[in-house]
Amino acid sequence: MSSVITIHNRANSQQLAIAPPSSGIAVRGAIAIPGDKSISHRALMLGAIASGETIIEGLLLGEDPRSTANCFRAMGAQISELNTERVVVKGVGLGNLQEPAGVLDAGNSGTTIRLMLGLLASHPDRLFVVTGDSSLRSRPMSRVVTPLERMGATIWGRKQNSLAPLAVKGRKLKAINYLSPIASAQVKSCILLAGLMAEGNTTVIEPALSRDHSERMLKAFGAKLTVDPQTNSVTLIGQPQLTGQKVVVPGDISSAAFWLVAAAIVPDSELLITNVGINPTRTGILEALEMMEADITRENERIVAGEPVADLRVRYSQLKACTLKGSLIPRLIDEIPIIAVAAAFAEGTTVIKDAAELRVKESDRLAVMASELTKMGVKIGELPDGLEITGGNFLKGTDVDSYTDHRIAMSLAIAGLTAEGVTTIHRAEAASISYPNFVNTLQQVTT
Ligand code: S3P
Repeated sequence: MSSVITIHNRANSQQLAIAPPSSGIAVRGAIAIPGDKSISHRALMLGAIASGETIIEGLLLGEDPRSTANCFRAMGAQISELNTERVVVKGVGLGNLQEPAGVLDAGNSGTTIRLMLGLLASHPDRLFVVTGDSSLRSRPMSRVVTPLERMGATIWGRKQNSLAPLAVKGRKLKAINYLSPIASAQVKSCILLAGLMAEGNTTVIEPALSRDHSERMLKAFGAKLTVDPQTNSVTLIGQPQLTGQKVVVPGDISSAAFWLVAAAIVPDSELLITNVGINPTRTGILEALEMMEADITRENERIVAGEPVADLRVRYSQLKACTLKGSLIPRLIDEIPIIAVAAAFAEGTTVIKDAAELRVKESDRLAVMASELTKMGVKIGELPDGLEITGGNFLKGTDVDSYTDHRIAMSLAIAGLTAEGVTTIHRAEAASISYPNFVNTLQQVTT
């Protein structure tokens, strides 16, 4: 471990200390990033419900995909030990998930619980109980319970069936046409997965397009679905034959985002990030950083197993403020904490709007980023649905907290690279939800 970055393990929490020398440090080298979290979940789930064998290369070994794998193992899918090289999933076949003997635990993972609920609700005569950690148990489930109830599902839970733990009595569901009030890939995917077992066409219409990994992967596994980009709608024909596939998971652009911002804000930096998924429904971070005049080039663009991939080269440059809002927001929803860090170094005032969804993520990311960056001396204000950050700040190292949110932990670590003095991130172990090797890579690029 370099003297710049040290880890202290306490009884229940890890402290990550970042102590850049007064001469500063550059962020340099070539790095690979872990597999995409959204695609990893979907590969495990579709593999588990398809007939035959699914081979997954490049799976993310974070805590969230582990939760998904354990849930589907408990319902009869055979999933080999998780590793990045090759995971083998022997699926149960559509409609054949077994009633688990115990409670299904989705841990910290919203994607696990919300997508899985669509599958559970559509398995007649079986009873499932699902729960998660304290963060997940406080996150809204009505966004998926309401459309599932319209399809005929029976779901019980606290606060009018809106909070986990949830009990689900599987039923034969009917196909619906659902106009979703929010642009959410978890909502869209939940309904599409529920629609797999229904007779007829299930349609989801979103106010803005959210990530489309489910649509792509469902097609690859044999489902018939049509997408209308004009109306942001997707229609799935029920009762397809799903067959196991080979899935190659690209690197997660949401994990690459930390390094894109690190190299963009630390003087003298140049970093090559290889094998990054650049699905257009996820590249809002690249567009935002380009609006901020970051120096980023896409190299070696290619298609890997149905998903676009590139290597990204990023060099330090003086950033400029920008305004982020509207349909761009769902395309960078998970990157707003690290964009807030970038904005602290941009000339002018960056405004982020239409991002109220951040209040119901693993933490209230608007409140937490505002409070923790304020402690570091950033001029940052909270809006009801966003943030306002005035850049050109001088950051000072201090004690900050992840609030057990992985993306907050990593965003604050990147902010610490440019702060004067020591930044100590409490509960930094949260990073392992989506990026178990984060600290090793942080050390690699700063030495
Ligand atoms: C995800 C969708 C997004 C995102 C989450 C992963 C997915 O959530 O924030 O990290 O894999 O479908 P919402 O659907 O709530 O926007």
